[in-house]
Amino acid sequence: MSLSHPLGRSEFGKKENTGKLIPHSEAIDLLNSWVKNERLRLHMHQVAHLMKCWAEEKEYLNEQEVAMWNLAGLLHDADWDQWPEQHCKKIIEELEKRNVDPSVIHAIASHGPSYFGVIPETKMDKMLYAFDELSGFIHAYSLMRPEAYQGMELKGVKKRLKDKTFAAGVSREDVADACTRAEFSLEDLIGFIIPRQGNFTEKFTG
Ligand SMILES: [Fe+2]
Ligand SMILES: [Fe+2]
Repeated sequence: MSLSHPLGRSEFGKKENTGKLIPHSEAIDLLNSWVKNERLRLHMHQVAHLMKCWAEEKEYLNEQEVAMWNLAGLLHDADWDQWPEQHCKKIIEELEKRNVDPSVIHAIASHGPSYFGVIPETKMDKMLYAFDELSGFIHAYSLMRPEAYQGMELKGVKKRLKDKTFAAGVSREDVADACTRAEFSLEDLIGFIIPRQGNFTEKFTG
């Protein structure tokens, strides 16, 4: 994402919608109708999966909270395919219209602080930012490996990160910034992503 679209605000959604979500099937319908690019759709499913895994395994959240994390991942780039110049304004407004919990909308609004000018505050915000950067990068790496995710190692991913010509669209500064904000090492996050995204992607595309 090379475009910069400051959102010009830091409040999203309405307090009275706290705890309100759209059903998973409605989110999938929205995703499928807005996003025609299959690669981008896969990216959002991957990030959603990582958000769900983290919420369950690391934060021990309840079902409702896990669903919130999952939804933020699933729709964070929903407007990128058809309205790149309105990313992520359009999906924010759509979710506000659908009365979605403000914390989910805030997470989406802060998934690219250097583009949208919204600082990730909550754990959900920070993890979405971190997973967004790394998930796409690791998937790009899997596509150049004959074995895809099989046998993928941390050091291989790190080597590619140092090679600035590989997946040049992924800002190394944003990756580092996301890890700092999430307060996790790059190694820990990559180690978390590889097996989970690998299993998920095999099933999803299988
Ligand atoms: Fe994005
Ligand atoms: Fe993304």
